[in-house]
Amino acid sequence: MSAELAIRDLEKVFSTGKPAVDGVSFTIAKGEIVVLLGPSGCGKTTTLRCVAGLEHPTAGEISLDGDLVSAPAKGILTPPRARNIGMVFQSYAVWPHMTVRQNVTYPLRTRGMTRAAMTAAVAEALDLVDLAAYADRPVTQLSGGQMQRVALARSMVYAPRLLLLDEPLSNLDAQLRLRLRDDLRRIIKRTGLTALYVTHDQQEAVVLGDRIGVMQDGKLRQMATPADLYNRPADQFVAEFTGAASMLPCRLVRREGEFGSVEMADGRRVEAWMPGAPAIGAAMVLAIRPENALLGAAGGPNCFTARVTSLRYQGTQTIYELDALGGRIEALELGTAARHAEGAEVSLTLPPALTWAYASLP
Ligand SMILES: Nc1ncnc2c1ncn2[C@@H]1O[C@H](COP(=O)(O)OP(=O)(O)O)[C@@H](O)[C@H]1O
Ligand SMILES: [Mg+2]
Repeated sequence: MSAELAIRDLEKVFSTGKPAVDGVSFTIAKGEIVVLLGPSGCGKTTTLRCVAGLEHPTAGEISLDGDLVSAPAKGILTPPRARNIGMVFQSYAVWPHMTVRQNVTYPLRTRGMTRAAMTAAVAEALDLVDLAAYADRPVTQLSGGQMQRVALARSMVYAPRLLLLDEPLSNLDAQLRLRLRDDLRRIIKRTGLTALYVTHDQQEAVVLGDRIGVMQDGKLRQMATPADLYNRPADQFVAEFTGAASMLPCRLVRREGEFGSVEMADGRRVEAWMPGAPAIGAAMVLAIRPENALLGAAGGPNCFTARVTSLRYQGTQTIYELDALGGRIEALELGTAARHAEGAEVSLTLPPALTWAYASLP
């Protein structure tokens, strides 16, 4: 049955010295999908492999429904097979000489099931991934997306306690990737499996995850719901990685709870949301997503004049590059017509709740 996963102070140091996973802690509730998101090399795969038992952690504890499966300090290291975890990888790990049905039946062969139980479980798994009609085809006749569905069915057919997926869509072409991305969440949710999904793709993370954990250099920077991550990024790295394209230097002049005023390079003041407890006078950066920089005067705080220095027309949207607040700010507007020309003076409104200030990185 689907289990809760708990990871505490996980650390993995390879012989090369620098920790690949550096004090990561989080839990995944039964039936929840958590996505680890981060740039290449930040430690996503290593974390996943530690959970699978394929990698021996240097320190920390991993437990499934309260059973410790990895705890180096206590000499505990349950072998991968005994953890009963399903895995799907980037490469299509299917057996090319077998049919779809044979591939999905394979993991059940050593589990002491009756023939009837095996047939039923395989039929259910194939149905779930929408491949029932392809059961007797050789897998080599399938598309990449279908092969990944076979891999998915095979990893779920024995009702694992946990499903691990490592960038399962990254070898598919763009169109298939989008289709399977949308299907994956539905499929996993229908099984009720607890899932840990790893990707470097923000869109994938947002569509699939109940919660998303952003990793950088082996550390978990923030774990939150997709909406919280996009509206309340905990630090400059998370803001930038999830799409805040404009970063302007500023200085804190006033604070009131989670909000405050910063002074920009041109002397203007901006109301912004700020996490943590920065000191008055501290050097900070103002982070703005292009979608949250509104062209036009909306009334209320944070309305400034700006000049369009360049624009990128993209058919259904236009990205304006603005000279404003002593720096450069990107603003995105939806629509098939660009409303402003290069050189135009425009009003720029920055909603305080969607304008974030962070202590400058050292
Ligand atoms: N077997 C290994 N030996 C040495 N270093 C490794 C090994 N596996 C991964 N690393 C290093 O650990 C870091 C994290 O890698 P990885 O977990 O694969 O990142 P991600 O999956 O986020 O791209 C990287 O610096 C990588 O080079
Ligand atoms: Mg990886």
